[in-house]
Amino acid sequence: MDRKKFIKSTCAFGLGVTGIALLLESCKKTQNTTTPQGPTVNFQLNLNQPANAALNSTGGTVSANGVLVINVGGAYTAIAQSCTHNGCKVGYNSSGNNFICPCHNGVFDINGNVTSGPPPTPLKKYVVTKNAAVLTIAG
Ligand code: FES
Repeated sequence: MDRKKFIKSTCAFGLGVTGIALLLESCKKTQNTTTPQGPTVNFQLNLNQPANAALNSTGGTVSANGVLVINVGGAYTAIAQSCTHNGCKVGYNSSGNNFICPCHNGVFDINGNVTSGPPPTPLKKYVVTKNAAVLTIAG
């Protein structure tokens, strides 16, 4: 094989391999776009305990077991706290009623859906039930 043919065939092979790798990567991203990510939990928070007192006020948050629990206007929401991009802890933004990741400005709505930034998948949302002064967070 002369030099010209060798270079031609090597380039063709390289382009083919690159194309397949890009195709597989795009398929991988498509598959993950709707599956919320977060730990499986089932725990309780007593609102009478000082450590959970923030939850007695609108906009108050408590982080426990990888879950961020929020008092949203007297109702409770719980969301996985680890960003689905690179795992930084998201924080609740009461003025926008959403979650912001400080690492690369990923933004999630109150239900955990990605609204902007690099996160590839939603945050998992948990069921919160209240019985007297005790919240149960499960999902
Ligand atoms: S780690 Fe959250 S946006 Fe990158």
